[in-house]
Amino acid sequence: NYYAILMAGGVGSRFWPVSTTDFPKQFHDMLGTGETLIQKTFSRLSQLIPKENILILTNESYNDLILEQLPLVKQEQIILEPAMRNTAPCILYASLKIKKQNPDALMVVAPSDHWIEDEVQFCANLQLAFDFCERDENLMTLGILPTFPNTGYGYIEFDKLDSRPIKKVKQFREKPDYPTARKFIQSRNYLWNAGIFIWSVKAIVQSFEQFQPKMYEHFMKGYEVYNTEKEKQFIKENYPLAENISIDYAVMEKAENVFVLPATFDWNDLGTWGSLYDKLPKDEQDNAVVNAKVLLENASNNIIRTDGKKLVVIDGISDYIIVDRDNVLLIYPKNKEQDIKKITAKL
Ligand code: GDD
Ligand code: MG
Repeated sequence: NYYAILMAGGVGSRFWPVSTTDFPKQFHDMLGTGETLIQKTFSRLSQLIPKENILILTNESYNDLILEQLPLVKQEQIILEPAMRNTAPCILYASLKIKKQNPDALMVVAPSDHWIEDEVQFCANLQLAFDFCERDENLMTLGILPTFPNTGYGYIEFDKLDSRPIKKVKQFREKPDYPTARKFIQSRNYLWNAGIFIWSVKAIVQSFEQFQPKMYEHFMKGYEVYNTEKEKQFIKENYPLAENISIDYAVMEKAENVFVLPATFDWNDLGTWGSLYDKLPKDEQDNAVVNAKVLLENASNNIIRTDGKKLVVIDGISDYIIVDRDNVLLIYPKNKEQDIKKITAKL
């Protein structure tokens, strides 16, 4: 009864020029391990979930990349979105398709572009969550111990007095502003939302019906054609009309039956070059070098990545992101990493 939907529609614009709209970060070997992020995610999930029950949700334009990188995945397992509408529409659509096939299904929603090293703990956490959701119609998320007031994450307030491993959520707040995030961190009873959700298809479909009735009606109009050859036409016409909203705002902030399991595995959402730098091995001067031959002097705390063809010689540069890919060379201060996503707009 276990299913997974793997979210692979994002663009990863802060990882430009490696991540581009033609070739987003989930399809790259960001850490130099020999496997791309989506390959890693697929193999991690397949330890607990039958391979044929892992569905990939993505934009139409990435279909070929998925078939190429995940040869075990059949075309029917790739759910193609004709337009980007954020995570709520695609999760509802995929959940309805699974529900039609198996009304008792339990599912995990997982981003395809995160870094998790401890697969044993990951699977143990996931198993606990599945067991919990099998008993009751609840919505579950995995929580991460926060380290700083990051405004790009969802925050989960849990009951401090709840000593059970899986805790009732008092409040889910998506992307609070900086003062609020700081207050949350100081109060010590908040976790970051890892963006990994677990629930039964019944529970999530019912939550959409309750909190997003318009979106629910919209996708239910096609229920009888899902998993048939008429589905493609319906989706082509109707998917782009769905509201553009994430699951966090659409459902998680509103629902009252939300529970959190504090994760016992390491987690990094690989959002920026800096978060990647944190994960990489470093030389004595704390330079992280991926796929590059280098000759470094008076250089420290840099992250350096190339296509592997050039020798990179550096003297007197510290705290920089240095990336050479195809016809682009990026030399950018690490403390301005958030601005990288604005570059593509300027070009
Ligand atoms: N298929 C598909 N279609 N996937 C999508 C789409 C879409 O339209 N939009 C985003 N995704 C994928 C992304 O590739 C990513 O894997 C995942 O869904 C989450 O989207 P992000 O755009 O990366 O969300 P976020 O980082 O702003 O916030 C979410 O993740 C944080 C943790 O990384 C939220 O769930 C936060 O609450 C959470 O803390
Ligand atoms: Mg993200």
